[in-house]
Amino acid sequence: MKNTASIGILTVSDRASRGEYEDLGGPAISAYLQELLVSPWTPVYRVIPDDRHLIAAELKQMVDESHCCLIITTGGTGPAVRDVTPEATLDVCDKILPGFGELMRKVSLEKVPTAILSRQTAGIRGKTLIVNLPGQPKAIRECLAAVMPAIPYCIDLIEGPCLETNPEKCVAFRPKK
Ligand code: MTE
Repeated sequence: MKNTASIGILTVSDRASRGEYEDLGGPAISAYLQELLVSPWTPVYRVIPDDRHLIAAELKQMVDESHCCLIITTGGTGPAVRDVTPEATLDVCDKILPGFGELMRKVSLEKVPTAILSRQTAGIRGKTLIVNLPGQPKAIRECLAAVMPAIPYCIDLIEGPCLETNPEKCVAFRPKK
């Protein structure tokens, strides 16, 4: 039997965490992964405020206790005073993967000039890949579609579970050994 992969979905938003509006980002990530992944997975979903220590603590919990192989955050990547998701990500990661942010900004800039305002990044903590997405729900597909082909191989390299995608939706690139 295949192991079920745990995937963290972390919405970072002061207002969504206070219930002032419905979180649209977390469910959008979940829906997109549901479309793409054909191997078994289960979401670990949280909504928390824009607080650097709380974000770092939640990321650590998702890695160290929930054993997520992948965590996708949404929100808090911009220049506003309360935006600190990339800082919290860097706080907990052992290695940074700048290519994720570079590629997501490149594809996003084709859609919206304010894509340069996102400081989104990615990195590895232990055997977990953490990827930041902007808070705009429509940014989620645009960004994930660009980086998803590289994610299963990255998770192979950090000794996580084998994520398999529906090739009609996303061809995961795994270099031949
Ligand atoms: N990227 C995409 N693909 N689509 C968008 O609408 N919005 C931008 C940018 N990146 C956007 C995007 C804007 S307006 C901001 S301020 C930054 O992401 C940061 O957003 P965040 O603070 O909600 O993470």
